[in-house]
Amino acid sequence: MNEAHYEGSKEKVYSVNGRGETFESILARRLQRRSLLAGAAAAAGGIVIGNAFAAAQDASPVASPAGIDDSLQFAAIEAGSGEDLVVADGYTAVPFLAWGEPLFSDAPAFDPSAQTADGQAKQLGYNHDFSGFLPLPIGSDTSDHGLLVINHEYTNPELMFTGYLAPNPDYTEGSEDIPELLVNTSQEIVDVELEAHGVTVAEIQRNAEGAWELVIDSPYNRRITATTPMAMTGPVAGNDLTKTSDDPTGLTVLGTLNNCSGGLTPWGTFVTCEENFHQYFANNEGLAEDDPIRLSHERFGLTSGASERQWETFYPRFDVAQEPNEAFRFGWTVEIDPFDASSQPKKRTSLGRFKHEAVNVWVTPSGQVAVYTGDDERFEYVYKWVSTNAYDPDDRAANADLLDDGTLYIAKFDDDGTGSWIPLVFGENGLDASNGIADQAAILINPRVAGDIVGATKMDRPEDIEVNPVNNRVYMVMTNNSNRGVEENPGTDESNPRPANIWGHIIEVSEAGGDHAATEFEWDIFLLCGDPADESTYFAGFPKEQVSKMANPDNITFDAKGNLWISTDGQPSSLDVNDGLFAVPVDGASRGYLRQFFSSVPGSEVSGPIFTPDNTTLFASIQHPGEGGTFDEPVTSWPETSGPPRPAMVVIQSTTGAPIGS
Ligand code: FEO
Ligand code: CA
Ligand code: CA
Repeated sequence: MNEAHYEGSKEKVYSVNGRGETFESILARRLQRRSLLAGAAAAAGGIVIGNAFAAAQDASPVASPAGIDDSLQFAAIEAGSGEDLVVADGYTAVPFLAWGEPLFSDAPAFDPSAQTADGQAKQLGYNHDFSGFLPLPIGSDTSDHGLLVINHEYTNPELMFTGYLAPNPDYTEGSEDIPELLVNTSQEIVDVELEAHGVTVAEIQRNAEGAWELVIDSPYNRRITATTPMAMTGPVAGNDLTKTSDDPTGLTVLGTLNNCSGGLTPWGTFVTCEENFHQYFANNEGLAEDDPIRLSHERFGLTSGASERQWETFYPRFDVAQEPNEAFRFGWTVEIDPFDASSQPKKRTSLGRFKHEAVNVWVTPSGQVAVYTGDDERFEYVYKWVSTNAYDPDDRAANADLLDDGTLYIAKFDDDGTGSWIPLVFGENGLDASNGIADQAAILINPRVAGDIVGATKMDRPEDIEVNPVNNRVYMVMTNNSNRGVEENPGTDESNPRPANIWGHIIEVSEAGGDHAATEFEWDIFLLCGDPADESTYFAGFPKEQVSKMANPDNITFDAKGNLWISTDGQPSSLDVNDGLFAVPVDGASRGYLRQFFSSVPGSEVSGPIFTPDNTTLFASIQHPGEGGTFDEPVTSWPETSGPPRPAMVVIQSTTGAPIGS
């Protein structure tokens, strides 16, 4: 979600035009760096890293509107700011699996004026984010039948319940310290919110007309919510800091929260990321000022007083003063087996605890798996985790707990275009008692502190991180950081090169030897997003007058040709247009030729784009449509014609049935 939401204030947005460093000076430094790199490679005996993948380019490219060979075929749409979805010519975009739709025949029909917790637990949740498509039967590449897994990141109670925001009788016109509106919540509302969080697993299939339909009562259909019991596994499970009065073992947690992005595993599970978990917890100031638990919670932004949602009023586990450790049980990645609706979700503590965004699992040449993930907050870090044991492609059960044993690394981007993955291992790199680190569990519970100690690179809000299956390079999305170089905050560096970075950028990484378990890499800037008319933008060197404007990249995916598809979160603030979906080739003559494919509805972000294996369907999430309005005064009713808006998926297909972008 947009970081500013539920944090009390909107980000201040202003143009970078004319501020700080110019693009020319950035480019000059990059060119200088490239010549340094070339010299270094020659001196090292000509080590070649990555980029041996040109053969993967389309063998029979078609002339593009730009008059060049192009792996991507559609005409860009204009940026949208209207009421409706817009998609490129020749495509349809249809709402699917909206909030409240029943997964089971014994669930109530969606009624926005009468949602109940029991009903919500059997209906689609709220604010869809990550989505993943797993073909049925398991392991096949079927593209007309499968499981769609969907994250439900958070609730917008002001859009879900009538009268949730009530006028404050103490407010007078112009008061700055007194809020104009007060939260008007109840146990019933909170219970619906708890069940609207989490994850959906839904069996879906294409009917004879080619339209996707939900299979109601499928044995795979499942809701996992903020009250579903799940296991803590790995090195931190059972640690004293995970024990609470409800769970003196520290092994079982109720629920998962703020499930933002995630990823699929090669063994057919999915991993969901707990991102902004801090917002559910209240009263950190109830702990003593020098209490290390309070200080650890402060690093993650837990509020000192009441939370905005006020769940702590009804559930003491969300009150830090009463249950100091409950917050240590959130901020993890959670692995779920969607093919077994009775399986227990597992919080994989080996991957560390932070505001997780993205979990992308890649098999390395040794058979180990590398997992790319990041911590989405300004000046936080990019991580990689490498399993101790090898993935077994022939024995699904043997991989069931592969994610419990491995090494967490943190990224350091050097200004010369190289970088390293620093292991976060107790006893190494200053991670010991001399720096206040007690043991490995302490590192995993608060890797931010470990990153500070080892000198990792502070990034501009890491969002999605994915490996391109065609060229094997890693794409790392930094969505924005308006505080970069502002006042006392850290200044620019080569990997976060723009001050007051309101538009975001994408970094392209080649692991040493093309091995995702490597501890060294090379990197370059792929995109500096924004309005191409602004001198600070950069589109991999492609002529800027031909590209679409785009800002605040969030989630990415790749089509079968390796083209990069990007969804955005934040353009209404940063470019004054709706969020959307974009695509850009990453190799060949059209590398950097960014085009807008789809535009969403007011107030929404687009997230979780995913193709079916044959690329004929693209699913994406429309999250928080109408944010900024209320249930009673909606700014849009999408996808309905009246009443409150409903977060939903969209299904995008070609009118000819051809692969998208071909
Ligand atoms: Fe929920 Fe980092 O986006
Ligand atoms: Ca987002
Ligand atoms: Ca995100």
